[in-house]
Amino acid sequence: MQPIKGFSKLSKAAKIEWISNQYFKDPEAAYELLSHYWHTDEQVQKLHDEFIENTLTNFYMPYGVAPNFLLNDKLYTIPMVIEESSVVAAASKSAAFWLNRGGFKAEVISTKKIGQVHFIWNGDAEKLAAFMPELRKQLLEGTADITANMRARGGGISSIELVNKSDLEPGYFQLHATFETKDAMGANFINSNLEEFARILRRALATDDRFAEAEKEVTIVMCILSNYTPECLVRCEVSCAVDQLADGDDYTNEEFIEKFTRAIRIATIEPYRATTHNKGIMNGIDSVVLATGNDFRAVEACAHSYAARDGQYRSLTKVSVENGIFRFWIDIPLAMGTVGGLTTLHPMVKFSHELLGHPNAEELMMITAAVGLAQNFAAVKSLVTTGIQKGHMKMHLLNILNQLEATDMEKERTKTYFSDKVVSFQAVAEFLKKLRGEPAVQILPGKKQA
Ligand code: MEV
Repeated sequence: MQPIKGFSKLSKAAKIEWISNQYFKDPEAAYELLSHYWHTDEQVQKLHDEFIENTLTNFYMPYGVAPNFLLNDKLYTIPMVIEESSVVAAASKSAAFWLNRGGFKAEVISTKKIGQVHFIWNGDAEKLAAFMPELRKQLLEGTADITANMRARGGGISSIELVNKSDLEPGYFQLHATFETKDAMGANFINSNLEEFARILRRALATDDRFAEAEKEVTIVMCILSNYTPECLVRCEVSCAVDQLADGDDYTNEEFIEKFTRAIRIATIEPYRATTHNKGIMNGIDSVVLATGNDFRAVEACAHSYAARDGQYRSLTKVSVENGIFRFWIDIPLAMGTVGGLTTLHPMVKFSHELLGHPNAEELMMITAAVGLAQNFAAVKSLVTTGIQKGHMKMHLLNILNQLEATDMEKERTKTYFSDKVVSFQAVAEFLKKLRGEPAVQILPGKKQA
């Protein structure tokens, strides 16, 4: 096979034709499949085509909701986009559990975002540090046009510091800036400012008399926001009296506390477990981040850096039991926005924001953290009590039944049969085969078979 030149310039039809002919035994079937997933409304399809490059079709993800989330005394139904079964069910179950115990309480600790100009400069570091007050003034004045709108909304550039890292890499310095981007995720705003900083820095060094000839040269390495935003932080917690935990379950309050707190300690000290533990949290977080049109890769990258901030990867959630009160909480950096980007473009993202009552960025950070905490509570609770497979197997069974094209009646019969048995594809297929051998009338008398 030969590489293709100018693929991006081809029309959508020509791209599909090339792909289908190159990679598929049945090019017509490949085309059929791709076109099957196009939106029937051409305008909507065009919108989706233009989100990225080389678009061929759409890729569906399930959009579900978790109702009954009481957060800071307000009730939410939360949109979740995720392909993994049981996640929405777990979030909903947790929400219902905490609904009667005061709900989730959250606060945004800070919303600072960070950007850096990385540069190489071989001069007198002390001279450069002494120049910083003057340079800072020039940087702020030189970006006044870019920041005008943001400043009008209460945001802008909060600080600009010179960082000397030349002990780690010869001549390596940074302009390390913090930004307040209000309801915007702010990536474009931050990067535009940083690129302007670089131009101003270059000009300032070249023209200021205090720098010797050799110091007038600077190499700008890159200007880019950091996705590590440890200060764009939200805390969310749930708490209740210790005697409210067991709730008629198969264990006592004391047993539950012992099992649950030990699991959190293990996720705090053991990175293998911590990774899976935090993955469960991100099941909840990512699904809300996606449904609300935010950048889940940015949120993921930051969450995991934050989980390893003391040098060891640890649980993002913590638990305490003091004075008869069980308290379970999460501190998580979430750089999220409610304006700009997909929020004004994607029809389903707009729907999510309306469903949530048009939250501002801080409210959305709290909602998202609550789903992460809920998810983790449900996962750890079932892991240390019933085990995770019980819930998963229900969905696994349904997936197998769908693969085997079971009718509604067959599904009901199979679910009942497997309620106390181990589910495997083979066992389900055999049961179904036997079932299908029975006359329809004997499967469910009086009902029409689907
Ligand atoms: C599965 O997607 C997530 C869990 O593994 C999380 C956990 O173990 O805490 C259930």
